[in-house]
Amino acid sequence: MTETREQTVPAPEVLAAFTAADGFMPLDEGLALYAAAVEAAGRTGLPVLEIGTYCGRSAILLADAARRTGTVALTVDHHRGSEEQQPGWEYHDASLVDPQVGLMDTLPRFRRTLHAAGLEQHVIALVGRSPQVAAVWGGRLALVFIDGGHTDEHATGDYLGWAPHLAEDGLLVVHDVFPDPADGGQAPYRVYLRALADGFEEISVTGSLRVLRRRAA
Ligand SMILES: C[S@@+](CC[C@H](N)C(=O)[O-])C[C@H]1O[C@@H](n2cnc3c(N)ncnc32)[C@H](O)[C@@H]1O
Repeated sequence: MTETREQTVPAPEVLAAFTAADGFMPLDEGLALYAAAVEAAGRTGLPVLEIGTYCGRSAILLADAARRTGTVALTVDHHRGSEEQQPGWEYHDASLVDPQVGLMDTLPRFRRTLHAAGLEQHVIALVGRSPQVAAVWGGRLALVFIDGGHTDEHATGDYLGWAPHLAEDGLLVVHDVFPDPADGGQAPYRVYLRALADGFEEISVTGSLRVLRRRAA
């Protein structure tokens, strides 16, 4: 049976896990990401990949989309936090600092979160810097979700590193796209513009989340 867009929502217990998880994604954007992941993974049978795991909030949805479509979700993060999550910055959470090392470490909370959601076996955590992982990655992907570092260096590196791994007609999802600088940083917006210039077409807009489709060459 073909699933309609209305049917493509997670089960209530998955939504509850998403809502309870630490992270930054609002529900409407999460639902748009979930629908895109189910559609792309269901159509291609390929994995979905996220850059920017943090504590696993969006990874819950990608893992459930993977479970639903018989694939797997991959999520990349060095787990040391982005610039704005460091001590003294707006999004710092002191409870995420490893006291022995003195640096952020979001990996333990990510693992607990995915375990509690019953989704551990549907996600593969890749711990490392996004461009380094992308450089050694060899597989095709149904969907790439860019939600890592929000500087131009990092956001552009994520796009250039991972977009080439997308399957034909695969989906590129970019978070925190703010055309108006008053609403937020511009690096993800510049990545979005670059993807459009490179031939991606826009599929949907939900809050700051943009879903783009890679056109067949
Ligand atoms: C905005 S948070 C991700 C939020 C998450 N997707 C969610 O919805 O809860 C960004 C994450 O990207 C990671 N990050 C930043 N730059 C990175 C890089 N170059 N390579 C790997 N991870 C990076 C940070 O450690 C941080 O955990």
